[in-house]
Amino acid sequence: MNEVDWVGLWRELSERLRRPEVAGEERRADRWRERAQGFDAAVKRKKERSDPLLDFVVGRLHQGDTALDIGAGTGSFAIPMARVARRVTAVEPSQSMAAILRENAAAQGLVNIDLVEARWEDTEVEPHDVAVCSHAMYSSPDLVGFVGKMERSARSTCFLLMRVPSHDGIIGEISRRIYGQPHDSPNFVVGYNVLHGMGIYANVMMEPVERFWADDSLDDALVRAKRHLRLGNGTAHDDTIRELLAQRLTFREGQYHWPDGMRSALVWWDTSRPGSPRP
Ligand SMILES: C[S@@+](CC[C@H](N)C(=O)[O-])C[C@H]1O[C@@H](n2cnc3c(N)ncnc32)[C@H](O)[C@@H]1O
Repeated sequence: MNEVDWVGLWRELSERLRRPEVAGEERRADRWRERAQGFDAAVKRKKERSDPLLDFVVGRLHQGDTALDIGAGTGSFAIPMARVARRVTAVEPSQSMAAILRENAAAQGLVNIDLVEARWEDTEVEPHDVAVCSHAMYSSPDLVGFVGKMERSARSTCFLLMRVPSHDGIIGEISRRIYGQPHDSPNFVVGYNVLHGMGIYANVMMEPVERFWADDSLDDALVRAKRHLRLGNGTAHDDTIRELLAQRLTFREGQYHWPDGMRSALVWWDTSRPGSPRP
């Protein structure tokens, strides 16, 4: 059995997000332009439920701390952190996400968030007490460089949130057939192994609720599968995918239900004593 090159696998999966046939939107200056409002609405809907991962991060902040939020989006972490921390630096390259973050902060009367409109790789910030990156590392092929820079910018703790793939999902099975390995995109399993290779013995907290996908038709399920697998408009694998979907989706109450779903993992470690949780 060959050893897995986790750093190379992350790079390959991340670069797949940029492939010309699927990366049309990525090449735009602001790939979130049409999706920022919808993303913010989803974040606000999620806030109506409890979010133990967010609560854990905010709960570990001390008053007077400074916090760095890399890829802050519309503020799902930056805003709750700013209620506790002395200052928050939100690094966010998308103008449309940053504009909504500004509005959200103003609506909450928060004046302690400094916005840096740049990619993490292209900016320099002074060290903060904690650094958080929630689902903003996937389009960075050099995860070692990304995390290394984050560690150097966090005096106390680094927090990463990454998506966790289903262990025996359909997407993993199709991915194995097409790409020879089960990962369709950069994720927690690959990312955690990259951290381990860096000598980081990170703690993990799993989101308790997994949201399983459901589609109204087999055609919709095919579209979803191709989107996840970054297959663009190509039809070469359609028959294989349709066959698997027909075998493995369960039809009930008018919808096709997947064994696949999404949950997030919170990964964190102490940067002053690598491998140990913050005291
Ligand atoms: C899926 S959203 C997550 C937003 C927020 N962290 C959250 O969890 O709600 C990803 C965000 O990361 C930003 N992003 C993507 N690549 C980035 C990079 N290299 N450096 C900083 N931000 C990045 C995007 O502009 C986008 O706003």
